[in-house]
Amino acid sequence: MRARLVAGNWKMHGSRQANAGLLDALVAGLGKGGAQAARCAVCVPFPYLEQVAARLAGSSIAWGAQNLSEHAAGAYTGEVSGAMLAEFGCRYVIVGHSERRQLFGESDARVAAKFAAARANGLTPILCIGETLEAREAGRTEAVVAAQLEAIVATAGAEAMRNAVLAYEPVWAIGTGRTASAEQAQEVHAFLRGRLAQRDASVAQALPILYGGSVKAANAAALFAMPDVDGGLIGGASLVAEEFLAIVAAA
Ligand code: 13P
Repeated sequence: MRARLVAGNWKMHGSRQANAGLLDALVAGLGKGGAQAARCAVCVPFPYLEQVAARLAGSSIAWGAQNLSEHAAGAYTGEVSGAMLAEFGCRYVIVGHSERRQLFGESDARVAAKFAAARANGLTPILCIGETLEAREAGRTEAVVAAQLEAIVATAGAEAMRNAVLAYEPVWAIGTGRTASAEQAQEVHAFLRGRLAQRDASVAQALPILYGGSVKAANAAALFAMPDVDGGLIGGASLVAEEFLAIVAAA
């Protein structure tokens, strides 16, 4: 049995007050230290890490960040290192989200360097890959996601995926309300696992592959029922406690 994970990506949302209500509702809903089939995590904006660490202490919910610097330390104004995230108790960090790639120009090479920085600091990277609508319509989905995965595996090695999480997030499904069908998600997840298996079968078998893109309580169960969909990376619906709790329950 592969580990299942449902991770919330708050993106640039929140306030101290709203966070407190949301986090308390999640803890109450999942139970302090309670066991559930899927692991659960929230990835929050940097300034809220301290609040999240305090509020989730002793709970079964892990936390993490949405980005990190590829550098260890130095004159990099505005950046945050993996060591800093580890010091705040982060377990996870999202790497290579499509918004970072598209809006902030993160190349495959930079994503690979960030992936390495996360692992060097004992963080579990949630590596995001996914095709644009244009690529899908041109029949290039597999070529695009294979290249994005290969960019990491070629530098870090397949073994590096052993303590990582992969998230398939089709760009056309993010924040659009247009979810990939369970079959579309399964097709790409199985393809990715197969690609990795060509390098290392045991790593591929153990790797949690999450689906992200307009996951809601209403469509989560169908997606998570697919054999290669091991959970979800949840944007908008992770900001609403009852939606997020229902998605965790579906996993
Ligand atoms: P939505 O769930 O809001 O579509 O966002 C998905 C996502 O980008 C998670 O990282």
